[in-house]
Amino acid sequence: MTVENILEIKNLKTYFSLDKDRVVKAVDGVSYVVPKGKTLGIVGESGSGKSITALSVLRLVDEPGEIVDGEILFKGEDLVKKKVSEMRKIRGNQISMIFQEPMTSLNPVHSVGKQIKETLHIHEDLIRQEANHKALDLLKLVGIPSPEKRLTQYPFELSGGMRQRVMIAIALACNPELLIADEPTTALDVTIQAQILELIKELQAELHMSVMLITHDLGVVAETCDFVAVMYAGKVVEYADVDTLFESPKHPYTVGLLNSLPRHDIKMEELTPIKGMVPSPFEMPEGCRFAPRCPFATALCQEKLPDLEKKENGQEVRCWIYTDEWDGEEVKVYEPNATT
Ligand SMILES: Nc1ncnc2c1ncn2[C@@H]1O[C@H](COP(=O)(O)OP(=O)(O)OP(=O)(O)O)[C@@H](O)[C@H]1O
Ligand SMILES: [Mg+2]
Repeated sequence: MTVENILEIKNLKTYFSLDKDRVVKAVDGVSYVVPKGKTLGIVGESGSGKSITALSVLRLVDEPGEIVDGEILFKGEDLVKKKVSEMRKIRGNQISMIFQEPMTSLNPVHSVGKQIKETLHIHEDLIRQEANHKALDLLKLVGIPSPEKRLTQYPFELSGGMRQRVMIAIALACNPELLIADEPTTALDVTIQAQILELIKELQAELHMSVMLITHDLGVVAETCDFVAVMYAGKVVEYADVDTLFESPKHPYTVGLLNSLPRHDIKMEELTPIKGMVPSPFEMPEGCRFAPRCPFATALCQEKLPDLEKKENGQEVRCWIYTDEWDGEEVKVYEPNATT
């Protein structure tokens, strides 16, 4: 059975040309799909290109950033080729995005109600009374208590969690088919984080939305996502459904992330964080970008970049270990913890 994909990113390259000979290849040949009606988690360390990929989908990358190659197929149509006016219609109508810090995205001088109604007016022709009803419905949908009162309040009068709920209400105002959430909970404290993620999960199921959830937290992925793309230094190194990724992760980087995930069954001091640092955009390794930090790396890894190759269960991995060309010893990249 083939799953229909709402979004297919193919070999996307988004570069920032800082000056004549300095180019930051923020997104450098990224390919992944968002299956329709599912949640895809994007994980990876800071600077791996998660946000720039998302902003590329919406064509919101600021200069000197530019999409230099690749395709972004949304329901089969290439967004890279769309005119600015066409993209404006797609944004907030079919694809919505929520960001990390709701205070910077909300307008401080307008009431919550006004801001929701503004989005409604832009995207749908609604008469005023209908707009009021719809704004109220949206606040109820995202679980805001005393919604009537909230409509008249200003962003500074709300807590961080409530502001993020308002942002979600705004993002949902026009029934998007794809919701992109970029670290939607990192600015919030832990209990509120869990509530917001639960809300996104519930809304996804209720509204049959497809969701792209960017996070650096694999714990969040385990709770919320159906599929996962692991990014490292501007590339996808692994892609799989969430069960496959947690049961048989293949890329040493993914395994490193899993090993540094706090778990109830192991003590903090037993966690093994990945050693070393993400390479500088100006000194990208020639071969596999993870090779300088990889405990298994051989000369081949240092010299040649592996492709992202399909394995069983739709899993994809970019690593020489899983190819016929592997020239090292036989290695066990992942050993499930005996106590789990
Ligand atoms: N305006 C810009 N000019 C130059 N380089 C940029 C610009 N914006 C982003 N980059 C670079 O692009 C790369 C990818 O950035 P991106 O914001 O996508 O990372 P990220 O994975 O979202 O990280 P984080 O987890 O910190 O949000 C980084 O190396 C970053 O320094
Ligand atoms: Mg980011």
